[in-house]
Amino acid sequence: MKIGIIGCGNISKAYFEGGQKASNLDVVACADLHLEAAQNQAERYGCKAMSVAELLTDPEIELVVNLTTPQAHLPVATQCLNAGKHVYCEKPLGINFEEGKAVIALAAEKGLRVGCAPDTFLFGHAQTSRKLVDEGWIGKPVAGMAVMMGHGHESWHPNPGFYYEQGGGPMLDMGPYYIHALINLLGPVKSVCGKTTKAFTERRATSEEAWGRILPVETDTHLCGVLEFANGCLITMIMSFDSWQAEAPPIQLFGTEGTLQVGDPNNYPHPPQVFRPGDDGFQTVSTTHPANARMIGVVDMVQAIRDGRPHRVNGDLALHTLEVMLAFEASGKSGTHIEINTPCERPAALPMGLVEWEVDSSV
Ligand SMILES: NC(=O)c1ccc[n+]([C@@H]2O[C@H](COP(=O)([O-])OP(=O)(O)OC[C@H]3O[C@@H](n4cnc5c(N)ncnc54)[C@H](O)[C@@H]3O)[C@@H](O)[C@H]2O)c1
Repeated sequence: MKIGIIGCGNISKAYFEGGQKASNLDVVACADLHLEAAQNQAERYGCKAMSVAELLTDPEIELVVNLTTPQAHLPVATQCLNAGKHVYCEKPLGINFEEGKAVIALAAEKGLRVGCAPDTFLFGHAQTSRKLVDEGWIGKPVAGMAVMMGHGHESWHPNPGFYYEQGGGPMLDMGPYYIHALINLLGPVKSVCGKTTKAFTERRATSEEAWGRILPVETDTHLCGVLEFANGCLITMIMSFDSWQAEAPPIQLFGTEGTLQVGDPNNYPHPPQVFRPGDDGFQTVSTTHPANARMIGVVDMVQAIRDGRPHRVNGDLALHTLEVMLAFEASGKSGTHIEINTPCERPAALPMGLVEWEVDSSV
């Protein structure tokens, strides 16, 4: 399938590189508000730089990967769908629930598909964790923790302002990795209770490109609470840009027969570890699936479109995740538990025996 990329900033490198490795798609064109950014990536990765309008009217392009900043996700996704193209969007699906719903509704009306990052739960270490849970290595998952503590992105990102605007913050930025990972392991979320706060009303960028820039903080930057999953599992979650240093594993699941420790779901650098009664500490588990990298979700979406099956990193998963993330603030403000109403199915596990950049296919 011929693919176009809109948004040629910081994260686009990962997608262009994935596109070069994937065998069922070709990145043929890219566009950006700044033509020079598109020209640089086009030259580097051997595709054509175009204006957004040109890319959207190119009849060969069936699917667009939308790598713009969060505030542009809805307008760009809307343009893509109105142009008759499937769209795979960087996270979050929208900066509020209405935006997310609008993308899903328009795609349904047009008979087109929506995908939304992160696809990291299709990486080898994530699928190995999934297999461990499904095979009962920790028994019935009862509770767990999902923790991301840091000090934000203004120390390295060339354009960090959007992380503190509406649609930014640690939950909408990093929460999708953790919530997709947890839905992969446990299924959908039933309710959320949370509290949120922020340490600063403005921040100062210290990255080379943005040095000294004052960044107004419009969003809460420390969010904590409890996710109740439909299977009964209770996960304590903390997403924070207000911590200079903390030591907590990214994801731990506590089951009736043991504990599963999962690495950072942003990139899964480490294989999972399991502790079962009688073990001498956590045991590292050999990986059962190929590593993969960003763009594997698009590879799966392309294959699913061709084969007429559901794709794994889909719009329902993203809208459910958006509803869950926004529920932390809503719960904190109202002092109530928030029921999660959007439908979401636990994505199918990847089968064993695949090679790098391969997904299951009917052909
Ligand atoms: N940087 C990372 O490490 C990283 C990692 C994972 C996901 N993401 C997500 O990827 C998205 C992009 O992040 P980034 O870090 O690449 O940002 P960035 O600011 O480096 O790049 C975004 C690019 O999109 C372009 N753009 C913005 N609005 C546009 C529009 N309406 N039409 C065409 N082009 C437009 C900008 O000109 C810019 O070149 C965000 O949603 C972010 O959350 C970023």
